[in-house]
Amino acid sequence: IPNFANMIREFNNPELAPRNSFHVAQRAARLIEFDRTEDLQELFEKGMPDPWYVLGGGNNVLFTQDYPGTLLTPVAQGIRIVDEQPDCVTVEADAGVEWDDLVKWAVQHELWGLENLSLIPGKVGAAPVQNIGAYGCEVKETIRSVEMCSTDTCNMVILNGEHCGFGYRESVFKHALRGRAVITAVTFSLSRTPRPRVDYGDLARETERLGDPTLHNIREAVCAIRRSKLPDPAAMGNAGSFFRNPTVDRSVAEELRARYPDMPVYPAEEEGKNKLAAGWMIDRAGMKGHIGGRVGVHDRQALVLVNRGGATGGEVLDLAREVQRAVRERFGVEIDMEVNIL
Ligand code: EPU
Repeated sequence: IPNFANMIREFNNPELAPRNSFHVAQRAARLIEFDRTEDLQELFEKGMPDPWYVLGGGNNVLFTQDYPGTLLTPVAQGIRIVDEQPDCVTVEADAGVEWDDLVKWAVQHELWGLENLSLIPGKVGAAPVQNIGAYGCEVKETIRSVEMCSTDTCNMVILNGEHCGFGYRESVFKHALRGRAVITAVTFSLSRTPRPRVDYGDLARETERLGDPTLHNIREAVCAIRRSKLPDPAAMGNAGSFFRNPTVDRSVAEELRARYPDMPVYPAEEEGKNKLAAGWMIDRAGMKGHIGGRVGVHDRQALVLVNRGGATGGEVLDLAREVQRAVRERFGVEIDMEVNIL
């Protein structure tokens, strides 16, 4: 007998502390966990009252108040090989898969492309939204397509990677498709040919310490570096980098470089621009390790703000503004928040 039961779970007035990595204690009016795309489509066909927001792992969000609408959480957990060529293997993962479980799976299957993105907290569905990146790689390099429900038409749409508007921590999902799409699965092109990329920071050295640059060793090296610098959200609430590295005109970067010769300056995607290291500037502005009551700036990576226990979203936001002000006053540079403030 076919099972026609709805595969959704609805929660009224749920506590959000266990659903956001800052562990901020707010509530939402309603939260819906959905598994099948049909159920998601049906929810929008019936009419989804505003406001609504997709809450994946809650790793890039700061709740500063109770959420007055509906939070939608994908819970589908599948990882499937959908095509196999001699070198390229196409893998589809559902939005609810824990990101690092996918990386682990790819490494176990000897598939290259995701290993530098090991241990990034969050779900697969969030990866394309911010074009997650670390250790010289960005997820856009492996994304073949993104499956989403268009909430305007209630149709499922497949968007090719080239049409996702990917940039540094940027995508179309943050702009033209903001509030108009729910990502349900992501398809990746992975490679069987070894393609080690260890030129970022300490990665080569850390990998060498473990042996050859195998997939497994690169993953372990990335995990070791992350564990040494970034707080574990399970132990101390945080959302990874709270700020984005700012892009400035090359002339601004050159002036700053003249004043601060050891300041890191990177190439930017745009012509005539440079990217600066927000973490370095926060550090040099004297804010690294700064403690303000129940919140603080992490003492090993200044881009990360932490909830030292029981903080509200408002307290984190106040600290974020203080950090922005310190960088502005010292360097004349604006640093934008990467985390979504709700
Ligand atoms: N730096 C300092 N002090 C600090 C932090 C950084 O001096 O407190 C300096 C470092 O020494 C280095 C430069 O700033 O010269 C860059 O630091 P790092 O290599 O740690 O990288 P990041 O630019 O601060 C970005 C990502 C991280 C990612 C790392 C490693 C952003 C917003 N953040 O940080 O991503 O793990 O590169 O690839 O682009 C995240 O998004 O949540 C995240 C952790």
